[in-house]
Amino acid sequence: MQQAVNQGENNRFLFNELQESDFTRDLLARDAQVFYHQTLSSPVFNTVVKAEGAYLYDGAGNQYLDLHGNGVHTVGYNNPDLIQAIKDQIDAGLTFAPRRFTNLPAVELAEKLASLAPDTLNRVLFCPGGSEAIEMATMLAKHYTGKWKTLSYYGTFHGAGFQAVSIGADPHFRAGLGPMMPGAIHLELPDYYRNPWGWTDQQQIDDEYIRQLKMQLEFNSEIAALVTEPIFYNSTVPTRYYWEQVKQLCTEHGILLIFDEIYTAFGRTGKMFAAEHFVTPDIIVVGKGFGGGIVPFAGIIGREDLNILEHKSIGHYTHEKSPFCAAIAKAMIDYVENNQLVAYAASMGAHFRAGLEDLQAEFERVGNVSGLGMNLSLDLVLDRKTKVRAFDQAQALMNFCMNRGISFKLIQGNILNLKPSLVVTKAEIDFVLETLRTGLRIID
Ligand SMILES: Cc1ncc(COP(=O)(O)O)c(C=O)c1O
Repeated sequence: MQQAVNQGENNRFLFNELQESDFTRDLLARDAQVFYHQTLSSPVFNTVVKAEGAYLYDGAGNQYLDLHGNGVHTVGYNNPDLIQAIKDQIDAGLTFAPRRFTNLPAVELAEKLASLAPDTLNRVLFCPGGSEAIEMATMLAKHYTGKWKTLSYYGTFHGAGFQAVSIGADPHFRAGLGPMMPGAIHLELPDYYRNPWGWTDQQQIDDEYIRQLKMQLEFNSEIAALVTEPIFYNSTVPTRYYWEQVKQLCTEHGILLIFDEIYTAFGRTGKMFAAEHFVTPDIIVVGKGFGGGIVPFAGIIGREDLNILEHKSIGHYTHEKSPFCAAIAKAMIDYVENNQLVAYAASMGAHFRAGLEDLQAEFERVGNVSGLGMNLSLDLVLDRKTKVRAFDQAQALMNFCMNRGISFKLIQGNILNLKPSLVVTKAEIDFVLETLRTGLRIID
């Protein structure tokens, strides 16, 4: 379970080497006064007055290389090409399209996605956010299969809507709400590092998790979809063998495989879609960086033969074919392609990962390095044998980095999750590695 760290007014003292300002103090107080408080987002610990490229700038004059960005910063904040696309779309005089009217930016974007997505995935629907896109994918699977249950993984997050919260299984979002969506069945998340059996052999681990999946399939006949990220939120990269087995079982049981690529799509893992590392699912869900870090925008890309909803709706959204959002999303994809960011994420990610592995070799505290491309994690432990999570050290290292202008998120309290923008330079990655090295020397 993700710990509620790195947030809240009270945590601000942790970053005591940062510059302070009256503006920051005042805005934090006003924010805390006017927004409903909720864990993981309000109250907050800092302000932001500018977001540009790979950086955030706060209201006290501090700058942070952003290795989190809520996953929207694929092509960098305030990307000039995307800003130009916005201006062009405004100049063209078309920023909204009511339902029943189509428009060129939306159709061009849909065609672009169909051309980029693997194999047979060539129809799309758009919507305002990732949670809604997960709902659309799930409802489409239910309509298509005529079944009503879902499979997904414990501890995951697929959005804050009720069905998405039911599919994800993070207690922060479920506790106290009573019965969740019926038929939402959960599997244990494959774990190659800290699995309950202490195994390290990947094949043995995969086979055990596949056995668990088979058991669920044996006892549940009404499953419409398996919804999952292809690379998990903690940067665990399942093997191709694992996904091949899952896909085969899904096919045998008439279950649609839905890959939530809200975080991983558009190059982050070193492929345009993370699915390309593994297998082609029946539906890919995109979001976050899809809107260029400027607008909320998401969608699904699925198989042609899922086009069966003539008399039903799954995504009747006011902004479903927004020309404004579509123009930005198309400019984002063009930017990724024109600047070869997919190949860059693969090579710079390999460099980043090699640097993290050097840290693992150097420091007992680093128990595990995981991830692919620009989607990496460091798991800090108290002891390499017991793998007990080093919560205090991880918090101290995060504070140390924050004080030196690097922002990232902790997962489960001890895993440093490092997801830079794809416009980050090699010098900036090396700065992160050196800062982590210095921090690891002094935190104990
Ligand atoms: C993997 C994943 N799926 C879905 C979502 C939900 O997206 P949104 O916040 O746009 O609804 C998120 C958001 O954090 C996510 O990380």
